[in-house]
Amino acid sequence: MRVIPAVLCLLLCQIFSSYAQQAQPSVKNSPTIISTGKDDPWWQHAVIYEVYPRSFQDSNNDGIGDIKGIESRLQYLKDLGIDAIWITPMYPSPQVDFGYDISDYEAIDPQYGTMGDFDVLLKTANSLGIRVIMDIVLNHTSDQNPWFKESASSLNNPKRDWYIWRDGKNGSYPNNWQSWFGHSAWTLDPKTNQYYYHYFYTQQPDLNWRNPEVRKAMYGIMRYWLDKGVSGFRMDAVSRLFEDVELHDDPYLPGYNAFGDRNIQHKYTDDLPEVHDVFRELRKLADSYPNHPVLIAEADEPTIGDLSKMYGAQSDEVQLPMDFQIADVNELSAPRFRKLFAEVENNPAHGWPEYFFSNHDQVRQWERYGDGAHNAQIAKLMAVLELMPRGTPQMYYGEEIGMRTTEPARKEDVRDPIGITGWPKEKGRDGERTPMQWSPASPNAGFTSPSVTPWLPVPPNARTVNVETEKSDPNSLLNFYKALLRLRHTEPALLSGSYVTINPDDQHVFAFLRRLPAGSHGRDVLVALNMSSQSQTIQLRVPDAKHGSLRVKVLVSNYAVPMSSLDLDQTILPPFGAVVVAVE
Ligand code: NOJ
Repeated sequence: MRVIPAVLCLLLCQIFSSYAQQAQPSVKNSPTIISTGKDDPWWQHAVIYEVYPRSFQDSNNDGIGDIKGIESRLQYLKDLGIDAIWITPMYPSPQVDFGYDISDYEAIDPQYGTMGDFDVLLKTANSLGIRVIMDIVLNHTSDQNPWFKESASSLNNPKRDWYIWRDGKNGSYPNNWQSWFGHSAWTLDPKTNQYYYHYFYTQQPDLNWRNPEVRKAMYGIMRYWLDKGVSGFRMDAVSRLFEDVELHDDPYLPGYNAFGDRNIQHKYTDDLPEVHDVFRELRKLADSYPNHPVLIAEADEPTIGDLSKMYGAQSDEVQLPMDFQIADVNELSAPRFRKLFAEVENNPAHGWPEYFFSNHDQVRQWERYGDGAHNAQIAKLMAVLELMPRGTPQMYYGEEIGMRTTEPARKEDVRDPIGITGWPKEKGRDGERTPMQWSPASPNAGFTSPSVTPWLPVPPNARTVNVETEKSDPNSLLNFYKALLRLRHTEPALLSGSYVTINPDDQHVFAFLRRLPAGSHGRDVLVALNMSSQSQTIQLRVPDAKHGSLRVKVLVSNYAVPMSSLDLDQTILPPFGAVVVAVE
């Protein structure tokens, strides 16, 4: 059992000061901790930041973000405290799905720059201690990819079997499988009179992963990028690599979706067992590189059991399957978050958690957790929830300044095709992909020149919600993120401490402890988040501790902390109050 030294500082603190401002850690900027040792993988200490290249920074004034633009903002990311960037696809693409339809896997789309620009980006990022993670789309290609063009050219083309081609049934589709983006997952190619399968858009035909040549080609592509020095891949839609060879119909579920189709369970097109053979092969490939590349799986698995399988029975598959269970929570609920963080923490494979609250496919966290009245306070609370647990957090550009989701007002303004198919129920994903808001400059917030029309409009709130303005406001969300990120990189309990749930039955306050291993010197870190709109008074029960004797210091909080409330036996948390406390 761990012995906690008895100190009377709590009392002294209360005497010396009645209020601490929104407390921020006093630590200095210190070098990012990046380890390359096998036993201490870098990705466990890293904070990953997703860059959507179209929307991050335009350097050549064509209204579309680009690689030179990203490069020019690396120092900003370094100062923020980011260890790795995941950049969504920048390969040549017809851009039907804004890069997730790739026509050439070993090149850069001229919209974003050149391979030379990419090499400079990689070098500059690495010199700043920032790793670059590529997005790789293994499940499908663009229909403009030369592989598909060959495959479609005749029934007996050598690449015919690289994709999933089937005859129709009774003059219609081969079966009832549906595309995630609406309607049948089969499209008839009149030339050969067969249907090809696509889990996503018609222009994104699925590869046939049962064909060894497909695997070989994809692994070659991954080597190409790893040889350049990238630090891993975020693997798009990987649970969908295989489909049932016998084409069983998927079971229907009650109701209809936003596209007007019957709801369906993707039973025969998702999570087929063969996917684990591929994961093991991918892991071997990654492990053969000395910089320990990481594999991150886009894994919107229905249960933690399914997610856990992705780590592999021998921890020999994906290091970081993204936890969509957490990301999909659409309410601020202490019991729900407590349960889900505990579940991933105790996953049967003992895998390392990876979680996020915003990305380029879903409504930003500002709206999903904001109640309309306390959104700024809640945004800070969510930052604490994101950056303090044990695991690898993944941020999305702009969340650190509180960017909102800004949906198109009219169907004719929609750029994301699902927003056109599903309008008005499904407005697409443009709303969470608007340009990064760098400055108050009107009209384009420093994303691109004021005389240019950006590919998506810059939201009007950019005049106040932007990096430049928030930099100079000590109480801004941006500075709050910076403080948390510094703390995360310097506080031993946050780097290597375990995660212990406390107050397990509280309906409003989600609290946990980051605990140093027994016998180690240093302090534990306690986190308490009031997820309700009422003030809460609670006893924060630190296990094994003699409460009166604990030394307590507020490290960060999203409210002015009355020092008297630092009594762990009776802590007062204001509505949506979040506090991070050192205890020893
Ligand atoms: C998941 C990606 O995140 C999404 O943006 C894309 O549309 C689909 N996969 C298809 O690649």
